[in-house]
Amino acid sequence: MKNIKWYQKAVFYELYVRAYYDSNGDGNGDLQGVIKKLDHIQSLGVDCIWLLPIYPSPLKDDGYDISDYYGIHPNYGTMDNFKELLEEAHKRGIHIILDLVINHTSDQHKWFQEGRADVNSPYHDYYVWSDTKDKYAQARIIFLDVEESNWTWDEVAGKFFWHRFYSSQPDLNFNNPAVHEEMLKIADFWLKMGVDGFRVDAVPYLYEREGTNCENLSETHMFLKKLRKFVDENYPNRVLICEANQWPNDVREYFGNGDEFHMGFNFPIMPRLYLALATEDVTPIIKIVDACPEIPEDCQWCTFLRNHDELTLEMVTEEVRHFMWDYYAPQPRMRQNLGIRRRLAPLLNNDLKKIKLLNSILFTMPGTPVIYYGDDIGMGDNIWLEDRNGVRTPMQWTNEANGGFSSARKTYLPVIDDELFGYQKVNVEAQAIDEKSIYHFYKQLISIRKQEPALIKGEFSWIPIEDKRVLAYTRSLDEETVYLIHNMTSSMRTVKMEMSESGKELIDLLVGEYYQGGEPIDLAPYDFLWLKSH
Ligand code: NOJ
Repeated sequence: MKNIKWYQKAVFYELYVRAYYDSNGDGNGDLQGVIKKLDHIQSLGVDCIWLLPIYPSPLKDDGYDISDYYGIHPNYGTMDNFKELLEEAHKRGIHIILDLVINHTSDQHKWFQEGRADVNSPYHDYYVWSDTKDKYAQARIIFLDVEESNWTWDEVAGKFFWHRFYSSQPDLNFNNPAVHEEMLKIADFWLKMGVDGFRVDAVPYLYEREGTNCENLSETHMFLKKLRKFVDENYPNRVLICEANQWPNDVREYFGNGDEFHMGFNFPIMPRLYLALATEDVTPIIKIVDACPEIPEDCQWCTFLRNHDELTLEMVTEEVRHFMWDYYAPQPRMRQNLGIRRRLAPLLNNDLKKIKLLNSILFTMPGTPVIYYGDDIGMGDNIWLEDRNGVRTPMQWTNEANGGFSSARKTYLPVIDDELFGYQKVNVEAQAIDEKSIYHFYKQLISIRKQEPALIKGEFSWIPIEDKRVLAYTRSLDEETVYLIHNMTSSMRTVKMEMSESGKELIDLLVGEYYQGGEPIDLAPYDFLWLKSH
C-alpha cells in the first residue's frame, strides 16, 4: 500500500470522559479513569481515541459550551493528568484527538462576559450582535426542541446575540481576524502538547451572510484552509476531522484539494444503513454511496453507526424521517430534534445478528470506522433522561454497584439498570469471558481489518446482483479481492454472482468456512460473508 496515513487505516473510539471510569469516587468519570481503562481500549485494537470536550465548562451542552480553551474541567482532573493520558496512550500506539469547538463558546467564557459588558472591549466584537432579530432569517434552527430563534436578547449588552445552538452558546464572529488568531493559538497549545489532532465541531456555521442559509459559506472554507496550513506547517502528521452534517457534495468541499480537512464524517450514509435494514431494501445505501464524490488521496471518510448525539435524520427526506421515527422511535421520548435518541443495541432490539450485520458493513465500506463507547459491549439507553443524556450513561464494567463505574453513592447520571441492558447483564467483564459477545466480535472485526489491507484502502465496487435485499460489494487491492455480502432480510437468500475467482476456493475470513467461487451462495437471515480467494 502506498503512502497510507495513520488515520486512514485506524479504528477510532469515541469516548466521553465523564462516562468512562470514576477513579476518585466523586460520581464523575475522569482522566485517571481513562488511563486505568486503556487496557480495554487497547484490547479491542483501537488506534485512536476521540475525547468529547474536556475543557472547563458549565456543562450545559456537555462541554460543547467551553468557558476556557486552555484548561481541563475540574471534574475530569488536571493538565498533568491529561499529559499522563497522552503519554500512556502513545506508549500503547494509541492516538488521542480532542474536540475543538470553534463556532461558539459558553456564555460564561471571559470573552463573552467582558464583551457583553462593554462595547468598547476588544471582546465585544468576538461575537455577533444585532439590534433586531431580523437578520439571517434563512438560517434554520438546529436545536428545534428547545430554541425558537437563533437570536437571544442579552440584557447586559442591550442587544441580541447570534447562536446556532443553545442560547448559552453564543457564536463567535469569524469576520473578526482576532477570532482567527485565537483559534490558531488554541490549536497550537494542544498540538504542541502532543495531541494527534481535532474533531472540529459544527464546522458549517462559522460565518453568516444575508440572503444565504448561513451554512458552508466560502469564507468558512477560507478560514479552514488557514487552519490546515497552520497545522501542516507546524505539526505534520496530525489530523483534522470535519463535523459537518451535510450532503456528500457539501462535505466534499471540506476536503478542498487536500488542503482543508483530512477526514470528514459521512452523515448521509448512516441513517440509510438502518433504513435498508428496516425496509429490507439496499437501494438507499447504493444511491448514497454512488452520490459520494471522490475525495483527495490523503483524505478519508469517518463512518459510524451511533455517536453521542441523537441519530440524526437531517440528511433524509421528510417521508423517510417519518418512516424512521415510526419504525425506530415509536415512543415520543425516543425522538429529539430531527432525530432519535437511542443507542445501537436498543435500536436493533438487541438482536445480535442485526448488530453484527451493521457493524460488518461499517468495517468493510470505505472509511475509518468510529465506535461509540458502550456500543463495544452493546449497552442500552435510558429514554427517561433529558436531552441526549440517555445515550451518555456510565460505562458498564462489572456486575457490581454502579456497574463498576464508580464507588460514589450517586453518579452524574444513573447507570442503566433495566432487565435487558442493566449492568448486571451487560458489562465488560461478562463479555470478555463470553467468546460470542459483541466485544469479541469487535475485536475480531478490527483484527481482520488490520490483516487485510484491501478492506482499508482497497478499490470499492458493487457486485452486480439482481437481489436488492442483499448488499454486495468488493474491496480490491493489487491482486487481492474481498467479497462482502450482506443479507439484509429476515429470510434466506441465495446469491449467484460472477467472480473472477470462478472455480477457485474462497474462504470466509470471519468463520473460516470454504466456498466454491461462482457457485450459488446461501445466506441465512441477516448473515454476512467476507470472502477471499484462498
Ligand atoms: C455537535 C455536537 O456533536 C453536539 O453534541 C453539540 O451539542 C453541538 N455540536 C454544539 O456544539
